[in-house]
Parts: sequence; C-alpha cells; structure tokens
Amino acid sequence: MSSTLSLSASQRHLFDGVLLRAAQKVAEDEPTLGVEFPHVTRPDGRWSTVPASVSAGYTGEAWSHGNWLCGFWVGLLLAAWRRTEDPRFLTWARERMRLVAQRADDPNTHDIGFIFESSAVPGFHVTGDRWYADIALRAADKLRARLVNTCSGSYLASWGPLSDPRGRCSSAIDTMANLPLLYWAARTSGDGSYRLAAEAHAQMTARAFIRVDGSTYHAVEYNPESGERRRGYTFQGAGDESAWSRGQGWAIYGFVESARESGKVEYLRLAERLADYYVQRLDGRQVPPWDFDATGDDARIKDTAAAAVVSGALIELGRIHPQPQAGGAWSQRGLAMLEALARDEFAYEAEHRGLLRNACYSKPHSEGVVSATMFGDWFFMEALCRAAMPGALQPVLPAPRF
Ligand code: GLY
Repeated sequence: MSSTLSLSASQRHLFDGVLLRAAQKVAEDEPTLGVEFPHVTRPDGRWSTVPASVSAGYTGEAWSHGNWLCGFWVGLLLAAWRRTEDPRFLTWARERMRLVAQRADDPNTHDIGFIFESSAVPGFHVTGDRWYADIALRAADKLRARLVNTCSGSYLASWGPLSDPRGRCSSAIDTMANLPLLYWAARTSGDGSYRLAAEAHAQMTARAFIRVDGSTYHAVEYNPESGERRRGYTFQGAGDESAWSRGQGWAIYGFVESARESGKVEYLRLAERLADYYVQRLDGRQVPPWDFDATGDDARIKDTAAAAVVSGALIELGRIHPQPQAGGAWSQRGLAMLEALARDEFAYEAEHRGLLRNACYSKPHSEGVVSATMFGDWFFMEALCRAAMPGALQPVLPAPRF
C-alpha cells in the first residue's frame, strides 16, 4: 500500500513557477562556469567555483572534503531539461558529466555517492543512455570498496584513503545519504552485493549513531578490527554532543531509502523516530537552525539545505508508508516544508545566484554560512520533482510490502 501525493492548486502553481525560474537561472549560469562547478555563493551573491578534479584528502592534519558538489550541477541541468525540454540542457549535462566522470575512480571519499547519484544515475534515467549507467556503476564499485569488515559488522569508511588509519576508522552520518548509489547499482546490475554493503552500513549506523532521544552524532570513530565504537564526535556541528540538523536530515533520508530498498520495517520505524525528533526540535518552524543546539546569535543561522533534504525524504516516506493515514501525514509535512522553502527562501532575483538562500555549509569552518549551496539546491530540486513531476529524475519505485 502506498499513498498518493495530493498537491493543492496553489502548491502546484508555486512549484511549477519555481522549477521554471530555477531552469532559467541554471541556463544563465552554465555559460559562465568554464570547466569549474558552482560550490557555495559568496556574500555578494555570486557563485564560488571549484574544478571537479579536486579529491578529498588530508594535508598534514587538515582534512578537505574536496569537490563533492560537482555532480549536483549535472542533476540541476537534468531537472531543468525535465521542466523545459530545452535541448541545450541535455547537451550541457553530457559535457559536464564528462568533466565529473574522472571522479568515478576516486578511492578517497564516501561522497562519491553524492557525486554520482545526482548526476550519472538520473542521467541514465532521463536519457536511457548506457554511457551514464556505466559511469555510475564504476563509482558504485569504488563506494562498495570502502567497506571495512570488522568482527562486529561492516561499515563504509567516510573520509579519506583506507590506507590512512584516520580514514579507515571514520564514519559519518552523511554516508547514509550516499547509499542510494549502491541501491541503484544493485537494482540496475542485478548484483546484490551492492545492496548487502549498503545494508551492512545502515545496520552499523543504526547501532552506533543514534542517541536515546532520537538525535544523531555527526561522526563515529570505530576500531576497524573489532568494530567497537570508540567515540562520537562532530566535524560540522556545534559540538560533539549537539544535534547538527543536516546530519539528522542525512539520517532520515538514508533510512527512508534503506526501508524502500530492503522492505525492512525496522528502517521505516527508525526513519520515523529520527523524523519525530527533527519535527519536535523545529518547534513549529519549517526551516531548522544549522544546529538545533546552537546558542546566542548562532542559533539564528538557518540551514535551508537541511530542510530540503528532509522535505524530499518525508515525501518519499509518506509514499511508501504501509499505513495510509500515517503516510499521508508524513507527505503533508514534507510538502509544507517544501512550500515554505519555495515561497520564502527561493532566490528569484538575478543578483543572488543559486536557488535556495540561507543554507549553511559549515559554520565551524566559516564556509558557505548564509549561502546557497549546490547540495541544498539539488535536494530542493529533487524534492520539487518528487512533488510536482514524480518519475522525472528517478523511477517511482513500488512501495515494498513491509
Ligand atoms: N558533507 C556533507 C555535508 O556537508 O552535509
């Protein structure tokens, strides 16, 4: 049983207009980028850009995520094609995909999931061109190869080369939202080992990351031999014990995907528990602060990217939920978040590039704070497509029998 999403006439009108204006902005930006890719907007509203080739890694003690955002631009081009059917978007998507494809062999980061599930995977869905699928499968191999097998379970190491002990023991909640690449690879290739790797990771994350109150740690350090959890900590949150709102969003998103792909009701229940926590901490707002435990002036800094991630996840949670009433309530909650983003946070104006104002990439690193971010823009467009053009960027998969 799955529930059908019903949009009001005003939501339909709003989403349709935002999708069209977003396509216009993407078309305006594309010829200005050269071989680089948008990252986050600067205080003057213009994009900062980074080449696709920059990989994640350590320089001494300093960690850099590298360019994990490049695939999202391809995704925006594909969404713009779906809204407008302007053939330039498909040409641009293919050119950009060529520049991103080199990262399919990058062994250094879990973000390979983000890069390719937003580019090559929808590229294959939209065009049917096997070239896209082959790139995405190469990337899925690299993600699966990040599996660290311990005496008490297996996890996908998040940050850095597996030959580096810091990389090998690291696990971040963000990885949950990289699992869709593996689930897609399993479905597309018929090789269930991708799904086994994803589920092993989901199980270990469910055990090690969730606090008693339903909030999540940003990162966990494991003993890579025994699998023992050494500590929980943060990289982008306000503190090791705080509730970083986007991390909560990545967890909700990943467990909804895991529920749909595995048909296991425990993932669905966990996604609901995580979402209950998120909604309770929203306290009536539609957009969370960047960290639910931020204090003072910092508590006023929002993260619209977190809201975009959660809105799309809740729309999907509602669609696959076995109980129509509960499912309908989750979908409506996701839609209300999306409506607020489209109405209050979408940057219609030309001076502000990017789509969603007021995302927060990393407050502790003073990077992309009060900015548009490529991941916020992608998850916003994905949620808009889920709501207004189901099937546009990914197949509408049947709800499992939980
Ligand atoms: N690394 C993913 C994030 O910034 O949320």
